[in-house]
Amino acid sequence: MKINGRISMIVTVLCTAILGSTLLVAGCGGGGGGGGDNTPADKAMLGKAFFNDRTLSSPGGQSCATCHGSANAFTDGRQDSPTSEGATAGRFGKRQTPSIRYMAFSPRFHFDAGEQDYIGGQFWDGRAVDLKDQIHFPLLNVAEMNNASKADIVAKVSAGPSADRLRAVYGPDVFSTTDQAFDAIADSIARFEASSEFNSFTSKYDFYLKGRATLTATEMRGLTLFKGKAACANCHPSDPGPNGEPPLFTDFTYDNIGLPRNPNNRFLNMPPSINPDGPSFADIGLQQTTGRVDDAGRFKVPTLRNVAVTAPYFHNGGITTLDQAVQFYNKRDLGGFGTAEFPATMNREELGNLHLTDDEVTDIVAFLKTLTDGYAAGAVATKA
Ligand code: HEC
Ligand code: HEC
Repeated sequence: MKINGRISMIVTVLCTAILGSTLLVAGCGGGGGGGGDNTPADKAMLGKAFFNDRTLSSPGGQSCATCHGSANAFTDGRQDSPTSEGATAGRFGKRQTPSIRYMAFSPRFHFDAGEQDYIGGQFWDGRAVDLKDQIHFPLLNVAEMNNASKADIVAKVSAGPSADRLRAVYGPDVFSTTDQAFDAIADSIARFEASSEFNSFTSKYDFYLKGRATLTATEMRGLTLFKGKAACANCHPSDPGPNGEPPLFTDFTYDNIGLPRNPNNRFLNMPPSINPDGPSFADIGLQQTTGRVDDAGRFKVPTLRNVAVTAPYFHNGGITTLDQAVQFYNKRDLGGFGTAEFPATMNREELGNLHLTDDEVTDIVAFLKTLTDGYAAGAVATKA
C-alpha cells in the first residue's frame, strides 16, 4: 500500500497536467473571466465543434460525442451493449467507454520513481501519454471512427465548415502539412476536454466540502465507510488537497482488482480483422503498454465523479449497477462473482472481503450518488 505517496502525487500534478499551458478548469486559475488573450477559449470552442462533428468518421455519422455524450458525463448513453459500437454497424470495441470528465487532470503517463509504478496517461491501459496524444486513436480505430489515415481526416476538415476557423485560430498556414493540421485539431479538442464543461466540480459533495450543502445521514455514513472500513479512498481519494484542490476520486494509478471476464462483451465475437484472438481474448491491460508480465490485468483507476450516471462499470462493462460494483469489492473472495481473469497479479490486500453489511453497501452507494455534477442547477430549480 502506498497511500501517502498516492495522495501527495496528485497535488503536484493538479493544474499542470496538460498542454503545458493554461488549463481552463475551475479552481485552477487561468481561463475564465480574466480578460486578456481570448485565444485559448477560441481553441477550446473550436475543439467542441470537432468533438461533435459527425463527418469525421468513415462512414460519416459518428462523432466523439456519440460515445462520450454530455448527458451521461461523457460516456456512451447507448445501454444495449457493455462496449461501444463504432461508425461501422456491428463493430464493437473491447472496452467500456469511460467518462472523460476530469481526465485533463491525469498526469502524463510515466514511471514514478517514488511509487516504483506507472501513473497517469489516457485510456484504461495508459497507452496515450496525454489528452492530445489520445485523439488519433478513436479517429483511426476500425471499431470506432474508422478513418484510414490522418491525411484523410485533415482532408475532410480542410473541405468542411471548420476549415476557416482552424486557420483563424491556429494561423493561415495551418494546413501546410498533415501533421501541423492534425496537431491543431488535436490541440483544440484537448483544450475543450480541459474546459469547465468537463471539469465543473459542481457535485453535491463539492458543495458539502465548501460548507454549502449537508449530506444526509446515509450519505455521511457512506463517506465515513469510503474513507475508513471500505478503504475506497486508498485509490479513489476523496479529501481535498492541502491548498483546497477538489478531490478527483482517482490517483491515476493502475490496479488489478480481480474482475472476471465478461462473457457478454461483444468484442469476443468480432471477426479476426478486429479481434485476432477470437472468443479466448483476455484483456491484459497495462501489460500491453509496458510489456511487463506483472502488469497483466491492471487497469487505470477511473474517477468516481459522476459514477451514478456512467453505467455499465469497469473496463469490460461486466457490472451494471453501483450496488453490484460495491458488492464486488465487498465479497469478491466469497464467490459468486466468477474467477479473476488474471489471478496472479490480483490485489489481495485492499479489497475482496470487506465485511460490509448490506446496509453499509447501501450507504456507500448513497455517497457515490453525491458525486454527480450539476447539483447547483438542481438546487436552484427546486427553490424556484
Ligand atoms: C466508438 C466509441 C468511441 C468514440 C467514437 C470515441 N471514443 Fe473515446 N473512448 C472510447 C473507449 C471504448 C475508450 C476506452 C478505450 C481504452 O481504454 O482502450 C475511450 C477513451 C477515451 C479517453 C480516455 C479516457 C480515460 O479515462 O483515460 C478520451 C480522452 C477519449 N476517449 C476521447 C475521445 C475523443 C476526443 C474522441 C473523438 C475524437 C473519442 N474519444 C471518440 C470510445 C469512443
Ligand atoms: C486498490 C485500488 C482500489 C480500491 C481500494 C478501490 N478501487 Fe475502485 N477501481 C479501481 C480500479 C483499478 C478500477 C478499474 C478496474 C477495471 O476496470 O479493471 C476501479 C473501478 C471502480 C468502479 C467502476 C467505475 C467505472 O467508471 O467503471 C467503481 C464504481 C469503483 N471502483 C468503486 C470503488 C469503491 C466503492 C471502492 C471501495 C469499496 C473502491 N472502488 C476501492 C481501484 C480501486
